[in-house]
Amino acid sequence: DDVDVLIMAAGTGSRMNLDVKKQWLTLCGQPLFSYVARMFQALGFTSITLVMHEDDLARAQGVLHAQGLDAIRLVAGGPDRQTSVRNGLLACVRTIVLVHDAARPFLCEEDVRAVIARGRATGAATLGHAVRDTLVKAERETIVARVDREQLYQLQTPQVFRRELLQRAHDEALRAGAVATDDTSVVERLGCVVEIVGGAAHNLKITEPSDQLFLAMWEAVQCGSD
Ligand code: CTP
Ligand code: MG
Repeated sequence: DDVDVLIMAAGTGSRMNLDVKKQWLTLCGQPLFSYVARMFQALGFTSITLVMHEDDLARAQGVLHAQGLDAIRLVAGGPDRQTSVRNGLLACVRTIVLVHDAARPFLCEEDVRAVIARGRATGAATLGHAVRDTLVKAERETIVARVDREQLYQLQTPQVFRRELLQRAHDEALRAGAVATDDTSVVERLGCVVEIVGGAAHNLKITEPSDQLFLAMWEAVQCGSD
C-alpha cells in the first residue's frame, strides 16, 4: 500500500492526572499505543510508526516485541504534538500519510477507509463529528450568547494527507513559528482546503479522568470472549 501510518503517543497526558501517561492505560490487556498499532496492522497497513515519549522508547520496544509487533517502527516524539508529528514524518516515504492519536482507540475500519479515500482524492481530509450539544458562550459561568452549532464540528483523527503537502506545511509552520494542536490547521496555513469526513461519535479521545469509563465499556463490549 502507499500509506505511512503515524500513531501519536508521545504526550504526557497531563489532563488525566494519573501517575502513568494515558497511552499506557490498558485496553483488552494491552497498552493503548500497542492496541492501536495492532489494529492498523490488522487492517493490512505495512508502514506503521509509533511516535513515543523518549523516556518510554525502551519499554515500548519490549511491549511490541512481546506481542510480535516488531514490524512497527518506534520514533521519539518532542515537547509538543507538532514536533512529534514532524519527527514521525522523518520516517515516512510513501505518497499518503495518516496521522492518528493513540488516545483514540475506538476507531472503526469503515471510518479509516473513508478518510483515506477522501485524503487521497483531495490532498487533505480529517474525520470529524457534528457538534450535538447546545452551545453557548459564557462569561464567569453565565451565558452571554448562543452559538449556532449548525456549522460546527469536532475534529477527530485519523487525518490523512498527501505526504509532500503535510511535510511542506510543517516546514512552513516551523519557519513561521506557528503553533497547532492538529495537522489540518498546519495545512490550512498553506491555503489548502481540508475536507471533513463524518466519523463515528464514539471515536473520542481519552483526555480526562472520567474518560476511563469508556475504556471499561469498550472492553466489556469488544473484548469479552477472547
Ligand atoms: N502527543 C504527542 N506528542 C506530544 C503531545 C501529544 O505525540 N508532545 C500525542 C498524545 O500522546 C496523544 C495525541 O497526541 O495521543 C493527542 O494529544 P493529547 O490528547 O493532547 O495528549 P497529551 O498531550 O498527552 O495530553 P494533555 O494535553 O492532557 O497533556
Ligand atoms: Mg496535549
